[in-house]
Amino acid sequence: MVSPARLAAAPYSLVLGYPRATPRQLGSRADALRTMGVTGVSFEGPTRLGTLCVLGKGYSGVVLAARWRRRRVALKIRRTDSPRKTMAAEARLLSMANAARVGPKLYAHSRNALVMEHVEGVRISDWLYALKGRGSAARARRVLRSILESCHALDSAGLDHGELSMISKHALVRDDDSVAIIDFESASSLRQVSNVTSATQALAIGAALSSVVRRRCKIPQRRRIIALLRSYKHSKSDPAFAALLEGLGL
Ligand SMILES: Nc1ncnc2c1ncn2[C@@H]1O[C@H](COP(=O)(O)OP(=O)(O)OP(=O)(O)O)[C@@H](O)[C@H]1O
Ligand SMILES: [Mg+2]
Repeated sequence: MVSPARLAAAPYSLVLGYPRATPRQLGSRADALRTMGVTGVSFEGPTRLGTLCVLGKGYSGVVLAARWRRRRVALKIRRTDSPRKTMAAEARLLSMANAARVGPKLYAHSRNALVMEHVEGVRISDWLYALKGRGSAARARRVLRSILESCHALDSAGLDHGELSMISKHALVRDDDSVAIIDFESASSLRQVSNVTSATQALAIGAALSSVVRRRCKIPQRRRIIALLRSYKHSKSDPAFAALLEGLGL
């Protein structure tokens, strides 16, 4: 475990101010983490950044396993070259998602960081590839259903995630087969919502994932799914969603 103060020096400074930061920026970021209640960071996870292991890296942030008020958490640190000037918008959007019981729980945020629930899970695409053995069709159906339920909860809350056409990056499946939708930086409460339609399109119609889905469980032909989505889209109501799940065989 590395304390926030030590993060400001090499080699850890690379993740605190990725891809580059001034000593002043590093100092103020380290202070802010301490003020937020982050007590340490541990360098673990599937992604490497220089010599360090992290939970993930994207265009706007680096995500680290950390400790906050005795809890294991995920810490998303804003990249210094992020298109977003602060984490404020993402924090607001994630807390809206949380109000709909979706997404990792947001615990704290500052200008350059989010402290949230650490989702110990794998990407839906990897999960589907690895899935085998008895009961795997039923498990696949349950997981697909939970993803779509989260999407419908977002639709009902009027929050559009915005990147669910890339569902493989944005849905993590835990050991108990529960699901978390992540990364709300591009979400919006002003746009027309298309969470269920985008996720269904990616999971069951689009080329990449749907062929794996089809190997794991039986779902209707693409034409049929397109028709089902068309009728869901009109009202996006609970009964329309129930009819969609029914039609998909989930
Ligand atoms: N709460 C979390 N728990 C565990 N891992 C997470 C969590 N949030 C993000 N990650 C990991 O970190 C990666 C990057 O996170 P995220 O997608 O939020 O960053 P980003 O910079 O917005 O990425 P992108 O450029 O793809 O939009 C994720 O793909 C995931 O592997
Ligand atoms: Mg993102």
